[in-house]
Amino acid sequence: MAEAETSTAVSENGAAAAPVAETEQYTLKVRRFSPESGQGPYWQEFDVELDPTLSVLDALLQFKDREDGSLSVRCSCRAAICGSCGVKINGQSTLACLTQIGEAHEFANRAAGTSGSPDAPKEAVAESSPALTSGSEPIVVEPMGNMPVIKDLVTDMESTHWKKMRRVTPWLLDDGDPPERERIVPPDSMVDITQTIACIQCGACVSSCLSMEADPDFIGPAALAKAYRFVGDPRDVESKERLYDLAQDPHGIYDCTHCFACIDACPKGVAPMDQIMRLRRLAGEQEIVDRNNGHNHEAAFVKIIEKKGTLDESLLLQESYAPGVKGKLIPKPSAIKGLLGSIPTAVRGIRSGKMRSLPKLIPGVHHKLPGDSQEHVKRIFGHAEEHRTELNLYITGEEDELAEPDEDKTSPPEASREPKENQ
Ligand code: SF4
Ligand code: SF4
Ligand code: FES
Repeated sequence: MAEAETSTAVSENGAAAAPVAETEQYTLKVRRFSPESGQGPYWQEFDVELDPTLSVLDALLQFKDREDGSLSVRCSCRAAICGSCGVKINGQSTLACLTQIGEAHEFANRAAGTSGSPDAPKEAVAESSPALTSGSEPIVVEPMGNMPVIKDLVTDMESTHWKKMRRVTPWLLDDGDPPERERIVPPDSMVDITQTIACIQCGACVSSCLSMEADPDFIGPAALAKAYRFVGDPRDVESKERLYDLAQDPHGIYDCTHCFACIDACPKGVAPMDQIMRLRRLAGEQEIVDRNNGHNHEAAFVKIIEKKGTLDESLLLQESYAPGVKGKLIPKPSAIKGLLGSIPTAVRGIRSGKMRSLPKLIPGVHHKLPGDSQEHVKRIFGHAEEHRTELNLYITGEEDELAEPDEDKTSPPEASREPKENQ
């Protein structure tokens, strides 16, 4: 990073004007790709000179304006409103116009440093190791992930974002003829969905989603957050049908692995994972038995952690497919099929050490956990249960005798045109 420049502008009549911002020199390392060239992607490094409070998008546009007009980057508002400038900066999916270049540079230096976490407060890092914040690591800018790249930093959002958005019917399904004027709803009934309404469709969550990386057909965080926007809307009359559809889809609400990446990436605080958990909680409350066994699998997780204070993977399969005393003695044919189908997963679990392989180990006791840590986890579980409403928990631990799945509940709900109760 070069020396900072400071100057004071002087107006035509000689009076001192507002001070001109300090500028610094930054190096950007951009992943570029030009389909016409017939060659693969490559990295290009270049320098820009900017006020540290300006954005990475400003840096890209400066380079495009002054050095190479062929650099492709999508943007419009430059104010974190339109959602068009999604990229990855230093590996994190975000908006280029919302990321200050000075902060991105400090992050790059901290991430490359031998000490300090990239998430450590910058003051602490600067104090302990000034070299880390004044280093010369380039700011790495890449196109968003999980999407085909059209050119340089411009991705094709059709197949991974807009198509999935349409998949969840992203409009209100109301009841019959429109009213003469607007439908009035109590403001309180909308509080639950205001978070999802803040979405600007930037795709940063989709770009960072680990499940989508493994299963490109996963409906994904943005579209599922949008689904909750209507499931939770008291004016929508098809929330039950929407929930049934999203629960039964093998790439639906139970395909999320709770990795939190979409929460970290979202620039608008939509917290897509939380919305997916709300959908799951409502599907559970509606007693929708999904063909993916997702609800039972979650219930098994919760039950094992509540009782053992750790996740014992060797109990998980059985509890997921044949829960409760009765289920263990007389498993349903579907449970036997599910258990048999999971044998390869179990073998991989034993090989990787995730599942106990030696019968002498006590079930539910984790040999690597020190002292009474499992008791601590049980206490945390109890606390979470006590405060589940305020923590927006979506499922509870269930006793040994879990409800027997009711085959009828796998049938689609009767289409109801009755307006639903407020969520
Ligand atoms: S929490 Fe779920 S939806 Fe969000 S990024 Fe992770 S897997 Fe994807
Ligand atoms: S949920 Fe957040 S990250 Fe995802 S598209 Fe909407 S605003 Fe962007
Ligand atoms: S340019 Fe509009 S959100 Fe960045």
